[in-house]
Amino acid sequence: MFGKPGVQWRLGLAALYLWVSGVVYTKDTSWTCPQPCQCNSRTLEANCSDCQFEVVPDGFPQDCRLLNLTHNDLKTLVSQQFKTLTQLLELDVSDNLLVMIEAEAFLGLRSLLTLRLARNRLRVIPAGAFNGLPQLKLLDIRDNLILVLLDFTFQDLAALLRVDTGRSDLVFVSPHAFAGLTNLRELNVDRCNLTAVPTEGLRPLSGLATLSLHGLGLTTLTNYSFRWLGNLKKLVISHWSVLETLEGNSLFGLNLTFLTVSNCNLSVVPYASLHHLVYLVHLDLSFNPIRYIRGNSLRDLLRLQEFHLVGGQLLRIDPRAFHGLARFKVLNVSGNLLKTLEEGVFSSVGSLGVLRLDDNPLACDCRLLWVLRRRVHLGFDRQPPVCTTEVRFEGWSFLDFAEVDLPGPFTCRRSRILNPKPQHVQIAEGYTVHLHCNAEGDPTPSISWLNPQRVQLSAFGRLQVLANGSLEVRYAQVRDSGTYICLASNAGGNDSIGVSLIVRGFSHSSRNSLLLNETQSFPFEVKTLVVAVTIGVLSFLCSVTICFIFMFLWSKGKGQYKHTATIEYVPRSAASTNNGGKGHVESSRFTMKLI
Ligand SMILES: *[C@@H]1O[C@H](CO)[C@@H](O)[C@H](O)[C@H]1NC(C)=O
Ligand SMILES: *[C@@H]1O[C@H](CO)[C@@H](O)[C@H](O)[C@H]1NC(C)=O
Ligand SMILES: *[C@@H]1O[C@H](CO)[C@@H](O)[C@H](O)[C@H]1NC(C)=O
Ligand SMILES: *[C@@H]1O[C@H](CO)[C@@H](O)[C@H](O)[C@H]1NC(C)=O
Ligand SMILES: *[C@@H]1O[C@H](CO)[C@@H](O)[C@H](O)[C@H]1NC(C)=O
Ligand SMILES: *[C@@H]1O[C@H](CO)[C@@H](O)[C@H](O)[C@H]1NC(C)=O
Ligand SMILES: *[C@@H]1O[C@H](CO)[C@@H](O)[C@H](O)[C@H]1NC(C)=O
Ligand SMILES: *[C@@H]1O[C@H](CO)[C@@H](O)[C@H](O)[C@H]1NC(C)=O
Ligand SMILES: *[C@@H]1O[C@H](CO)[C@@H](O)[C@H](O)[C@H]1NC(C)=O
Ligand SMILES: *[C@@H]1O[C@H](CO)[C@@H](O)[C@H](O)[C@H]1NC(C)=O
Repeated sequence: MFGKPGVQWRLGLAALYLWVSGVVYTKDTSWTCPQPCQCNSRTLEANCSDCQFEVVPDGFPQDCRLLNLTHNDLKTLVSQQFKTLTQLLELDVSDNLLVMIEAEAFLGLRSLLTLRLARNRLRVIPAGAFNGLPQLKLLDIRDNLILVLLDFTFQDLAALLRVDTGRSDLVFVSPHAFAGLTNLRELNVDRCNLTAVPTEGLRPLSGLATLSLHGLGLTTLTNYSFRWLGNLKKLVISHWSVLETLEGNSLFGLNLTFLTVSNCNLSVVPYASLHHLVYLVHLDLSFNPIRYIRGNSLRDLLRLQEFHLVGGQLLRIDPRAFHGLARFKVLNVSGNLLKTLEEGVFSSVGSLGVLRLDDNPLACDCRLLWVLRRRVHLGFDRQPPVCTTEVRFEGWSFLDFAEVDLPGPFTCRRSRILNPKPQHVQIAEGYTVHLHCNAEGDPTPSISWLNPQRVQLSAFGRLQVLANGSLEVRYAQVRDSGTYICLASNAGGNDSIGVSLIVRGFSHSSRNSLLLNETQSFPFEVKTLVVAVTIGVLSFLCSVTICFIFMFLWSKGKGQYKHTATIEYVPRSAASTNNGGKGHVESSRFTMKLI
């Protein structure tokens, strides 16, 4: 009747199990526990949830495996409270009013694996509180009012694998708080008020494999924050709502396979901090205001398989963004502002297994035809992309198109320049000129300009490409002459025209004044300026000359002036007496000094 001996064996085991549980069930009377707890002698669980206990009752069976004391009014756990329950595996004291745990409160629980103290009012955990728990693997102290984790709090918990702390007012982790937790594999610090990553505090946790840090209020993750965690495989940083930068060496020392930095305020992918994580498999940067993913920037992450950036502000994923990632499988970029996703983003779309592109304003044209063609293989995680910008097919999901429709709307119109006649533009040196280039196509072509040396021009400088596609040449110089090429390109194809520009030079004299015009852009005409300057210079020269003449005349006069005067005279009486006589005239002179 039974084909395989294994099946018979299993049936026998099931019968044995029924018999054993029957035996245990008949022993029910001996398995009593305090009223009004509900105790299950089969599973050896005591459910004292919601029994309004203010102190822990006595009288639990010694072989009890699980004790549930949640939703009571316990305020204190006194020393050696549970010492008879040597076989207890799990103790849940969550959702009470605990303010105090005495030292050695759990002494004797030598089999205990899980201890839950979440949602109480603990402010401090005294040294020795966790003594005597050699097997404890999981400790949950979330949602308390703990401000400081003191040195050696967890010292005796050598077997502990996981601690959930946080959603506390935790402000400080003492450097030796985690001392002794050499086997700890997972630490979850959930929404606390730490002002820095407790780098030194984490140092004893050399075996840590998973670390989650939620809700820290840091704007920058500083260099070497996790330097001691060489064995960490999974790091989750989330809800650091003001985090804007990861310093270049902030993840130094880590060898992660799984990294999440989500719900933060990063505006760029932190390429520099990531590039050494060559074993990274899963990268999640969701819910960050990131706009672009640059080409060729993640190629160091050789083993990357999944990239998630959900709910960001992605406008564009550059070609070759995921180049070099041979094992790439999952791209999850739903809820962004992407218009398209070109096939050239990936090394090969053959390995891509899941693509989430939903909730993006997608233009259904030839650039997305590859997605449509691979739609069966790509498994959109039951959220297929939807066309939004193509009027005729707005709202159509990628799964709505029948195979016969293809390529249907998923075509492109090659770019075409609308002024196809070669243009010749002549201007005089110093003037500004616009060279026009209008193009149409679907999708809208992008316009670029090459100078006569065939170098692409940018949107800055004296020669700049304007947003409307025109090329502006300001203060044209003779050396700007030559043939410029306008290139219109879209996914459908390229078009180009040449525009020749001739800049006429000026005569030498006016070139000097033009130079002035260009560099200082004077508000009045050069002729006026020259006339004004000439008049100014002339009048200046005139006044100077007149001045000199006056000075000359004055100095001349000063040179002939004498301080003495000699006056010659003939006395009147002598002249009249000697009138017809002998004619002898005797003249007299005197000299007088002039003052
Ligand atoms: C434990 O008891 C509470 C209240 O009596 C009940 O609501 C809850 O379902 C029980 N839990 C389990 C796991 O049996
Ligand atoms: C204890 O009981 C509460 C209420 O029924 C339940 O939510 C909780 O999960 C139980 N704890 C354990 C460890 O079973
Ligand atoms: C953290 O600090 C802020 C103010 O700095 C305070 O409002 C808040 O209550 C503190 N605790 C938690 C858990 O956020
Ligand atoms: C996020 O960063 C931007 C600037 O990059 C800033 O304006 C904004 O206030 C920041 N948001 C938060 C929550 O800090
Ligand atoms: C952090 O490391 C990067 C990369 O080495 C370096 O450029 C930067 O200056 C460092 N920052 C600080 C604050 O030292
Ligand atoms: C990094 O981790 C990978 C596995 O995730 C391991 O194979 C490799 O040896 C580790 N490298 C170092 C330097 O620890
Ligand atoms: C993509 O991200 C969304 C939101 O985080 C998540 O629900 C979904 O499971 C992810 N899909 C895959 C394939 O990981
Ligand atoms: C582009 O803009 C510039 C200045 O904003 C203008 O001079 C030029 O005529 C425009 N080009 C076209 C083709 O409209
Ligand atoms: C169009 O131009 C781009 C560069 O702008 C080039 O990468 C592409 O190969 C060209 N396509 C064709 C069909 O010439
Ligand atoms: C000087 O430059 C302005 C534009 O900035 C131009 O309008 C003017 O004609 C130029 N003057 C001469 C003399 O070229």
